[in-house]
Amino acid sequence: MRDAAPTTIYLKDYTPFGFDVEKVELTFDLHPTKTRVKSRISFVPKPGAPSDMFLDGENLTLVSASIDGTPVHPEVSAEGLTCPVPDAPFLWEAEVEIDPENNTALEGLYMSNGMYCTQCEAQGFRKITYYPDRPDVMSVFTVEINGPHPVLLSNGNVVSTSQGHAVWHDPWPKPAYLFALVAGDLVAHSDSFVTASGRNVDLNLYVRPGDEGKCAFGMRALKASMTWDEEVYGREYDLDLFNIVAVDDFNMGAMENKGLNVFNSSAVLASPETSTDENFLRIEAIIAHEYFHNWTGNRITCRDWFQLCLKEGLTVYRDSQFTSDMRSAPVKRITDVIDLRARQFPEDQGPLAHPVRPESFQEINNFYTATVYEKGAEVIGMLRCLVGAEAYGKALDLYFGRHDGQACTIEDWLKVFEDTTGRDLGQFKRWYSQAGTPRLTVKDAWYNGTYILSFTQNLPASETTPDPQPQVIPILTGLLSPSGQEVVPSQVLEMTQATQSFTFEGLKERPIPSVLRGFSAPVVLESELAAEHTAFLLAHDTDPFNRWEAGRSLARASLLKMITDDAAPDPAYLDGIHAVVGDATLDPAYRALMLNLPGQSDLVKSLCDMGETPDPQAIWDACRAMSHAQAERLQDILPALFDAHQVTEPYEPNADQSGRRSLANAALRLVSLIDGPDRARGQFTSADNMTQQLSALGVLLRINEGTDELEAFEQQWKHDRLVMDKWFGMQVIHADPNETAATATRLTEHPDFNWKNPNRFRAVMGSLAAHHAGFHFADGQSYGLLADWLIRLDPVNPQTTARMCSAFQTWRRYDDARQQKIAAALDRILATPGLSRDTTEMLTRIRGS
Ligand code: BES
Ligand code: ZN
Repeated sequence: MRDAAPTTIYLKDYTPFGFDVEKVELTFDLHPTKTRVKSRISFVPKPGAPSDMFLDGENLTLVSASIDGTPVHPEVSAEGLTCPVPDAPFLWEAEVEIDPENNTALEGLYMSNGMYCTQCEAQGFRKITYYPDRPDVMSVFTVEINGPHPVLLSNGNVVSTSQGHAVWHDPWPKPAYLFALVAGDLVAHSDSFVTASGRNVDLNLYVRPGDEGKCAFGMRALKASMTWDEEVYGREYDLDLFNIVAVDDFNMGAMENKGLNVFNSSAVLASPETSTDENFLRIEAIIAHEYFHNWTGNRITCRDWFQLCLKEGLTVYRDSQFTSDMRSAPVKRITDVIDLRARQFPEDQGPLAHPVRPESFQEINNFYTATVYEKGAEVIGMLRCLVGAEAYGKALDLYFGRHDGQACTIEDWLKVFEDTTGRDLGQFKRWYSQAGTPRLTVKDAWYNGTYILSFTQNLPASETTPDPQPQVIPILTGLLSPSGQEVVPSQVLEMTQATQSFTFEGLKERPIPSVLRGFSAPVVLESELAAEHTAFLLAHDTDPFNRWEAGRSLARASLLKMITDDAAPDPAYLDGIHAVVGDATLDPAYRALMLNLPGQSDLVKSLCDMGETPDPQAIWDACRAMSHAQAERLQDILPALFDAHQVTEPYEPNADQSGRRSLANAALRLVSLIDGPDRARGQFTSADNMTQQLSALGVLLRINEGTDELEAFEQQWKHDRLVMDKWFGMQVIHADPNETAATATRLTEHPDFNWKNPNRFRAVMGSLAAHHAGFHFADGQSYGLLADWLIRLDPVNPQTTARMCSAFQTWRRYDDARQQKIAAALDRILATPGLSRDTTEMLTRIRGS
């Protein structure tokens, strides 16, 4: 059945559910196409409860229903059922039939490689049985599973288990979106953890037979996360068992179901031979993220889905703190900012802009966005910056103490900070309600020993924020002397006005300012400071983030001049990075990041702001030319950098080794532009780990070599789905712009292009969308190709289709010819009969009028 006509849901319309749910008992009789789900739910009407009860339910066949043992015949619609109910506590019993095998949307109960699994967030539980499927309804669940599988899992603790039968009980009240069930032929990688208070917790990572060798790292990351949350946030785990299951077909990365996390296998399975350093890093972060949700999400959940950032923004913030502690804090910060600018800024500056806490939506799945997640985390970072680490810790303790077991709002969250610090956070709250990226302009002045920094903030008006008001912007700032001494150490300048100045007295000479250190607020900084300051900061800033940022600014300015004026690469930039990259006292991972160029779609935005019409091919050519200029300028040190950072000890995915590999591979990429393929070929052949093998292959493809290596790679890895995802993605990512669409098309014809698997679909189509110059190649082939595949995927998997529509979100930045081609592609998708609510909402918003 297709989705009903779209309706918009508003935050302002929130009303509590009229009934409490005292307990829930579920029985599953598993069958691929005819699973029976029996529910026994104890409802208690609240004062003023309606006489009719509505329960959510989608794609269910109602077999029977009764209230207190008497059969009832509810009115059933495509969204749920309505039934007259008593005005006293009653027992609702129902039996429904569902079809997991044909559930290709991967929401509710579905099958993946013969295994049953569930995904209920946000609104998947209603595809399992009739229920008040909303996060503010919390209850205790007991689950009985009958099925022929060796492993039968659900949330909480095991009550009883025997061949073909298991009963689980979760003592913690939870919303339905945290329900999970898994059944299959799985093997466990087991370990245990003793909590700070001495509770023993059994840990299991369940995988398909054959994947046992890819579990050790995930388990280590889980134990590190458990320890970290005890030490840093004082939060212990609260059950005797913690299970993780890896599944191959999964829309997202992973899900924090109580006591039974479900992971996309790409987000948990790892071995040195099959996974890159980046994969290991991501796995460590995502395991931490889902584990941290046990407190920020599960124990304290969201009142409604508008409050999603309450759990996601906070948990992203917590997982980034964890990664900073486990690895290098500056490197983590830089990579987070690169990601924010690449994904969140375009969203915030285009037709999909929405506040961190949206006020309306049609399809909640479309609001698991970079804004809710990444900007939501930035807002928490700003709050911590404003109140200080100590007050932040106290506020969090108050939050956990006051709201444990509750379904909360952003108001509750801000109140704990107000109560802890005595501050009024009324203005700060605008970060949650106003969409868009503020522009922050800075200039300075110097009179007889007084130094003045003046800032202006400006938030562009948008559809959701027509009348923007000034926000509170913490601007972490330090001042350097002309000889590079830090004369005024980092301090937070708290900006609250549209225009505001800050004065520094008692300086002997005019300082060089380092503003917005650590990227202390998610803004676009426009500097009217002397241009030579940037090169000075690249050489001398004591703040590692701003030092990197200075290099980035020089690269951007130079690239823009190369694009608009045909200028040569800026020698000051090249000299500056030569010095930093060659500085052996600095962390290799940090030095590798110095070689990274601004994103091509970021440059598009800058060109638009300058009143230019961006030409994707010219941007591509400029970035290529800049890489060559880097290679030539660094030619004297590249071979030695490559050699000196080879890792000779056995592979470990730790920060030290992966940092060395990233610098060696950055050097390899550049030196190969000059010296050709030999070094990369050698590395490809001798590599004993995927990081080295894949980066060598990438370098070869980039210089139009590597045909034989691609073939060899396929032969070596065709049995491994996760590695083959890399093989598919790689070829698109490294294609020349004029060949990107053809390459992607060829790959879709490969027998292993299993497009119903989200990982494989994303490997090809996600890479196509991520290849800026290839996606926007003038012939428009890529637009058409992506549209074809979105039309094909939508009826099968609306959620993944809708997420991929964001490839088109920046379309208004391009020339008329491209806009016409994109509009035609969008209109063609929108005209598809029966298009899902998910995709319709995304494309309608992107298309605009
Ligand atoms: N709760 C989400 C998973 C989710 C998202 C379920 C959307 C249903 C709809 C989970 O905690 C999450 O945020 N996962 C992220 C990874 C994380 C490291 C940011 C994901 O899956 O991408
Ligand atoms: Zn999350």
